Amino acid sequence: MTFKSIPKIELHTHLEGCAPPSFIKGLAAEKNIDISGIFAADGGYAFRDFDHFLQVYEAACTTLQSPEDFRRLTMAVLEETASHGVVYMESFVSPDFCGGGDLAAWRDYLAAMVDAANEAEEKLGITLRGIVTGIRHFGPDACKPAAICAVETFGSFITGYGMAGGEMAGRPGDYAYSFDMAREAGMPLTCHAGEWGGPSMVAETIRDLKVSRIGHGIGAIGDPALVEEIAEKEIVLEVCPGSNVVLKAVDGWALHPIVKLRDAGVKVTVSTDDPPFFHTTMTAEYDMLNRTFGWDEDDFKVVNETALAAAFCDDDTRARVAKRLEPAQ
Ligand code: ADE
Ligand code: ZN
Repeated sequence: MTFKSIPKIELHTHLEGCAPPSFIKGLAAEKNIDISGIFAADGGYAFRDFDHFLQVYEAACTTLQSPEDFRRLTMAVLEETASHGVVYMESFVSPDFCGGGDLAAWRDYLAAMVDAANEAEEKLGITLRGIVTGIRHFGPDACKPAAICAVETFGSFITGYGMAGGEMAGRPGDYAYSFDMAREAGMPLTCHAGEWGGPSMVAETIRDLKVSRIGHGIGAIGDPALVEEIAEKEIVLEVCPGSNVVLKAVDGWALHPIVKLRDAGVKVTVSTDDPPFFHTTMTAEYDMLNRTFGWDEDDFKVVNETALAAAFCDDDTRARVAKRLEPAQ
């Protein structure tokens, strides 16, 4: 059974992390950059564990050096994602990888991404929105320029602020300054937490950063009272099961807590995170949820309705995307 053709929404992808290895290899060859060490014999990305994954990811990003590179990346990613039935996608985009956090450079990179996104929407019927992202292991001070870029370009394409990277770098409260800045500008917020950290990391993220969504959040499962609080506050989890399995945040699909979280009343959504790194696609995620837990079209309908309601886009966009989720007449 395959769920390739059903329309899907994903809220948690990293734009650079969606780059096909062949695309990055092509850029490296064009620019004479030797990053051959980040690829496996089968042509995919090669990494040992999460810390090494972050190093490989950053090495791949060294090939993305201009707005034109990001225009091409955005188009390549949207073509691949749309081929799996995705009709709306949110991607984390990092000013750190787009001109080193400089606002003027960021505006140029962003314009190129928006150009490609507009072209893809017209051609492929997929809508992309960006969430500006601070990189946690670069430290709280490095997240401030990212937040400034977010606030200055908040609008129809940049719809939120978030934080990715090494979760165990500091505590959530250390990053409150940039989240406060984004919140005061009216930006919706999300943050990676509970991918590696336990319940206290998730609880502090909710308390200190006041996010409405959490990236992953699976570490909450260790504290039933926290799970209840997440359900009660209607905080939405951007769950990425295939990523968790490959990075060994969980010991295999059968032990993934997505069903327990959902059954406890938590609003869960499904995304791919960095699909080529984890040899996954949205189709593969749905197929594995079906094979492992018996999820069917009705379950995926709920997941997509939850994702649509939690999307950071404006309501006109939400209404346009809702039409794409309706069954064909
Ligand atoms: N950046 C890209 N993928 C990530 C992940 N799974 N966790 C944290 N930061 C990331
Ligand atoms: Zn992520």
